[in-house]
Amino acid sequence: MVGRVDPDRYGPWALVVGGSEGVGAEFAEQLADAGLGVVLVARTEATLRETADRLRDRGAQVRTVAVDLLAADAGDRIAAVTDDLEVGLLILNAGANTYGHPFVGGDLARHTDVLTLNVVRQMELVHRYAAPMRERGRGGVILVGSLSGYVGSPHEGVYAASKAFSRVFAEGLWAELAPHGVDVVELVLGVTRTPAMARAGLDFDLPGLRVAEPRDVAAEGLEHLADGPVWVAGGNYPMAQKRSGFPRDRLVAGAAAAVAEMMGR
Ligand SMILES: NC(=O)c1ccc[n+]([C@@H]2O[C@H](COP(=O)([O-])OP(=O)(O)OC[C@H]3O[C@@H](n4cnc5c(N)ncnc54)[C@H](OP(=O)(O)O)[C@@H]3O)[C@@H](O)[C@H]2O)c1
Repeated sequence: MVGRVDPDRYGPWALVVGGSEGVGAEFAEQLADAGLGVVLVARTEATLRETADRLRDRGAQVRTVAVDLLAADAGDRIAAVTDDLEVGLLILNAGANTYGHPFVGGDLARHTDVLTLNVVRQMELVHRYAAPMRERGRGGVILVGSLSGYVGSPHEGVYAASKAFSRVFAEGLWAELAPHGVDVVELVLGVTRTPAMARAGLDFDLPGLRVAEPRDVAAEGLEHLADGPVWVAGGNYPMAQKRSGFPRDRLVAGAAAAVAEMMGR
């Protein structure tokens, strides 16, 4: 075994949904180095191609699927590329907030898109890829979650709720699948220096802000694949614990102020 992932347990192929950049691309590189073939899914063909080329340069077998996960047939289009492969590891990374807006008065269709990406597609893809893993009696599922999923927040209430769904969903899956040899972990991230967050204007330089690097959290996730159902990365466990507590009014107000400062609102 090279690196942190055993290909006999989680290979021979990994499907990294949202694998073209940031944390997803780091997962893909580390999996390639461990000897797994990698299927990358994202919308932007250019970044997909660049990441695929980097993995091939490291000697990995790679396939790409350029698809918008909001498309109703996204699952089928991904399956068309993976049907002849044994996918032993599913990583669902795509899922940053796509609509920061107060809920009431906002565009309901755009709020719904957040749920389609983070809840509906997540369910569909896990349903499709975890079933053969359970039959084989081995495999792994990583759902990339967020500290946002521990507390409601203005402007991103639907996103935060979708990440709470993901975490609780992961717990249920873990209870169902771990006895069958399939590891499930919700990898909870705090602020992470990804291209998507840079484009969204997040101020990584705010004094006192704990910022994780994509490479480090990807490595931590792979290292703790078997430590589900929830792994809080980047030293953020105390924050997750605090946000799980009471009284809720104080926690919600505190988190709202922190997000507003980070996003310059
Ligand atoms: N960055 C942070 O500070 C932070 C904090 C907490 C949690 N997280 C979680 O970490 C994960 C990764 O976040 P991120 O900041 O890297 O942003 P992201 O927008 O989720 O992007 C990650 C990857 O997903 C792809 N992607 C995004 N939307 C897609 C769609 N509709 N269809 C297909 N592919 C799509 C992106 O490529 P394309 O754009 O080309 O499609 C990229 O490869 C998310 O689940 C997020 O909730 C991030």
